[in-house]
Amino acid sequence: MDHFNYEGDQLVAEQVPLSAIADRFGTPCYVYSRATLTRHWRAFDEALGAQAHLICFAVKANSNLAVLDVLARLGAGFDIVSVGELERVLAAGGDPAKVIFSGVGKRADEIRRALEVGIRCFNVESEPELLRIGEIAGALGCLAPVSLRVNPDVDAQSHPYISTGLKENKFGIDIQSADALYRQAARHPHLRVLGIDCHIGSQLTSLGPFLDAIDRVLALADRLAAEGIEVEHLDLGGGLGIRYTNEMPPLPDAYAAALAERLGERRYEIILEPGRSIAGNAGVLLTRVEYLKRTPAHQFAIVDAAMNDLLRPALYDAEQEIVPVCRPDPDAPTDLFEIVGPVCETGDFLGRQRRLALAEGDLLAVRSSGAYGFSMSSNYNSRPRAPEVMVDGDQAYLVRSRESVDALFAGERRLP
Ligand code: LLP
Repeated sequence: MDHFNYEGDQLVAEQVPLSAIADRFGTPCYVYSRATLTRHWRAFDEALGAQAHLICFAVKANSNLAVLDVLARLGAGFDIVSVGELERVLAAGGDPAKVIFSGVGKRADEIRRALEVGIRCFNVESEPELLRIGEIAGALGCLAPVSLRVNPDVDAQSHPYISTGLKENKFGIDIQSADALYRQAARHPHLRVLGIDCHIGSQLTSLGPFLDAIDRVLALADRLAAEGIEVEHLDLGGGLGIRYTNEMPPLPDAYAAALAERLGERRYEIILEPGRSIAGNAGVLLTRVEYLKRTPAHQFAIVDAAMNDLLRPALYDAEQEIVPVCRPDPDAPTDLFEIVGPVCETGDFLGRQRRLALAEGDLLAVRSSGAYGFSMSSNYNSRPRAPEVMVDGDQAYLVRSRESVDALFAGERRLP
């Protein structure tokens, strides 16, 4: 459930009409709901209840400081994949002791900074990375907390670009070779083995693949324990899907219940790294219809948001609901629209074949844009990035200004 609903004919974010936000901040514009972010984070936190746990929001899904701040105040941890994300978490008031560092290509400077600020754990993706972390910890005279990210070879049954737990993917350490690497890590003077990590993919809509992965992770934990390598936590990654159109993904409490059943008597702290399921339905992208254009093949609605603002439809053929901000008269004639942006690519669409009643100047909301929306946006076609607004009750706060045209090339130089 989210807090973007119609009140009469008007789509509102909590108590603020989206049309008022468009008037005040212009379009395209991302709008987030604090109440929705809070509700979704708490759904995980409460689902795990008395089980020791830490819910680490995957910063890549939405890295706006206000979003991180809202979650940090709830006690969230953060899953990061770069020093940029780490600095964002720190700037937003996040606790470094609740930060998990994931990703296949951590640079030495990133590792050093993470050790300096005292993060909770590195999720290590290869032997050379493990050795590099050990070496840097040695040079700094500290112990680096590590988990190995294992690749359990399970099919997440999601889009191939966002499935990560198959053996042909670049991610993780083959679960069969993990035992030997754990032994090596356990002997290392500057490494402290804290946990086991896996993340098999994103937008999973059933529990089956998660449970297959958990079974394999638990089997590894049991083997390690038998050798005297006792890990403290199991990090099961993110990946729980959301409803974009008519998917019916499991809710956090069903996931937690299945997990508890699998864990049985084992006492591990559980770390989760949800991104999409917390932020996805906590945001919309507001856009305005610039032109209606009929061609022999299609009725196009050319809107002022484009693939540079929201890449998911172009990149994954993702379907996100597009709804009018002011509901039209029920008798208004509808048409099947291709909702496209101004970018010079045929792939620049936000939605295809959408039945809507549209006129020039109408406002639309692309739903489920709170995750992997702004964070994947770019300046392609020299388009300044959209502003971001956070609604909290009856207030709307500008939490990132619209990028200026000057800022687009402020770092560039002509030749002398
Ligand atoms: N942890 C790790 C190590 C990850 O790689 C990811 C996502 C997450 C957690 C969070 O997963 P989530 O709970 O959000 O599913 N751009 C794509 C999604 C890419 C996900 C990459 N990794 C999209 O727009 O669908």
